[in-house]
Amino acid sequence: MTKIYELETARLRLRQWTSDDKVPFAQLNADERVMEFFPSTLSRLESDALAERITGAIAQRGWGWWAVEVKDKHPFIGFVGISVPSSDLPFNPCVEVGWRLDYPYWGNGYATEAAQAAMSFGFEVLELDNIVSFTALTNQRSQAVMQRLGMQRSPQTFIHPSVPADSDLQEHCLYELSSADWQSQNRSKE
Ligand SMILES: CC(C)(COP(=O)(O)OP(=O)(O)OC[C@H]1O[C@@H](n2cnc3c(N)ncnc32)[C@H](O)[C@@H]1OP(=O)(O)O)[C@@H](O)C(=O)NCCC(=O)NCCS
Repeated sequence: MTKIYELETARLRLRQWTSDDKVPFAQLNADERVMEFFPSTLSRLESDALAERITGAIAQRGWGWWAVEVKDKHPFIGFVGISVPSSDLPFNPCVEVGWRLDYPYWGNGYATEAAQAAMSFGFEVLELDNIVSFTALTNQRSQAVMQRLGMQRSPQTFIHPSVPADSDLQEHCLYELSSADWQSQNRSKE
């Protein structure tokens, strides 16, 4: 049976999803502020289906978009993790780091703290050579997380194949971090 990895930071737990997460996940997926840089908000059915896909991917691989809880405070604030994109991207194969938090929990450093743990897992346990992240050109908050993680922006942008052609969210930027750069960043913090 696949081992399910769960991660812990000073304030957060990154864990496999439970059925209790579906209601708060549907709320954040219906919030236009959270979904500003996606083609649309999600219905309850779409949100539940996404939660099932994420849970299934973690069950299969042992890692993925973990559900994030703030220890002893908030049982579910969204997801952060590393995953293999299902879209046909120009830089496949790759592992991406990503995040989606409910609006009331923005501005606390939670996304960066959780993503640091996810990247550390990717480089140290999975021994990945490289981790990427990408988002719509206009999604500055997400790019700020990538920059805080020490990721470098590629000079080239790309058209995301899963975003509708008539959307101004189609053009994406790509950030990446190599294992060597991750190790040297961590050494310089010691
Ligand atoms: C992208 C997203 C996760 C970023 O969340 P965020 O809260 O801005 O990012 P962080 O968790 O890293 O928090 C950083 C902020 O917390 C502040 N902060 C407060 N307490 C902090 C602490 N103890 N430690 C670190 N930072 C702290 C930082 O100063 C920073 O504030 P600023 O934005 O005013 O500069 C969030 O906006 C989101 O879920 N968006 C919708 C989904 C989305 O677009 N996902 C990406 C699609 S590709």
